[in-house]
Amino acid sequence: MEYKRNIIVTGGAGFIGSHVVRLFVNKYPDYHIINLDKLTYAGNLANLQDIERMPNYTFVKADICDFETMCGLMQRYAVDGIIHLAAESHVDRSIKDPFTFARTNVMGTLTLLQAAKLYWESLPEGYEGKLFYHISTDEVYGALEMTHPEGVKPPFSTMASSAEHHMAYGTEFFRETTKYSPHSPYSASKASSDHFVRAFHDTYGMPVIVTNCSNNYGPYQFPEKLIPLFINNIRHRKPLPVYGKGENVRDWLYVEDHARAIDLIFHKGKVADTYNIGGFNEWKNIDLIKVVINTVDRLLGRAPGEDMDLITYVTDRKGHDLRYAIDSSKLQRELGWEPSLQFEEGIERTVCWYLDHQAWLDNVTSGDYLRYYDEMYKNR
Ligand code: NAD
Ligand code: DAU
Repeated sequence: MEYKRNIIVTGGAGFIGSHVVRLFVNKYPDYHIINLDKLTYAGNLANLQDIERMPNYTFVKADICDFETMCGLMQRYAVDGIIHLAAESHVDRSIKDPFTFARTNVMGTLTLLQAAKLYWESLPEGYEGKLFYHISTDEVYGALEMTHPEGVKPPFSTMASSAEHHMAYGTEFFRETTKYSPHSPYSASKASSDHFVRAFHDTYGMPVIVTNCSNNYGPYQFPEKLIPLFINNIRHRKPLPVYGKGENVRDWLYVEDHARAIDLIFHKGKVADTYNIGGFNEWKNIDLIKVVINTVDRLLGRAPGEDMDLITYVTDRKGHDLRYAIDSSKLQRELGWEPSLQFEEGIERTVCWYLDHQAWLDNVTSGDYLRYYDEMYKNR
């Protein structure tokens, strides 16, 4: 079948990538969606079981650092769009092993850019109708001050409403014009990849878009990240390791709202532009953790706050950024996007999902998920 578009989504077996792949495969039956993923520890094909047999979906196990393979795939699938999510994404791992982050996030992105450039420049129409869409993070902007450490609109710990948490801890926000100032090896590698993407536009005229998003939460997130790790630990009454004093602030966005933004920007975004994507939803870690504990306890029929004593303050993350808060008003103004879910609903859905999918969590924590590819794909 001739498809209207042939789009590679890199990192489609990861957390955000799996939501993007699912959205595109279901919403656009006339697009061919090629999920290109190396299946590192963070890639889990079980995240996509519901769509893996759809005719417009193809999975390819490959490393974005492998130049020959990237060139071959561009040709083989006549790719006209790339949505690039593949990355090493966990800050704590980057502190222990920065090389892997430079390899995948910097060299991998550059490899993919060069493969796209060679292929698109070889076509009679050149770059017309093509797009390299790079998914990045708000962490490239560094950290914001906390001008209102107690919160502008207290009290927060018992509430779960996004509206109350917008502009809660300061007046400064990350805007598209904010100067890059990455602090962790992870954010430094993402910043570098963003620069390469923009350089390919400025130097070669490649049509690119970059978006920088805040913390995502929701189903299928690898349980090394705060929210799924803590839900699983509360369920099993294991300690909850809170870094430092739990005072750091993050801006949380439900993952499906990020996927919706990616869809909108892929189709309507302005080439060579940057859009910030955020939740308008700032939380101090410790307040968010209390909401998660209360929600898990209620859904498991435990006494309210019964598991608060699992909170365990541990040594702080090195270089721990104090506050992230995104101003996504440009995206709202220009493309009409806004988060569809209030945090109260998003966190309820998320906790319910992990409690209902203990088998998914067990599969991931035991390492069994790493065999899924061999069982399902290798001999097809
Ligand atoms: P994730 O760690 O859950 O998934 C990453 C995926 O990339 C995995 O499937 C992994 O197998 C794949 N991958 C890693 N190295 C690869 C390689 N060399 N070749 C091919 N595939 C490879 O990550 P995530 O949280 O879904 O984040 C996806 C993207 O979004 C990343 O670029 C991240 O920087 C960015 N981002 C994440 C968040 C967040 O809160 N999670 C927020 C903003 C931006
Ligand atoms: O802001 C966007 C970024 O959000 C993405 O670019 C990253 O890929 C993603 O991992 C996320 O980074 P964070 O470092 O903010 O997420 P994490 O879930 O690791 O931590 C959230 C906050 O919770 C952070 O302040 C550290 C703290 N934390 C985390 C863990 C895992 C703890 O206190 N204890 C923990 O065990």
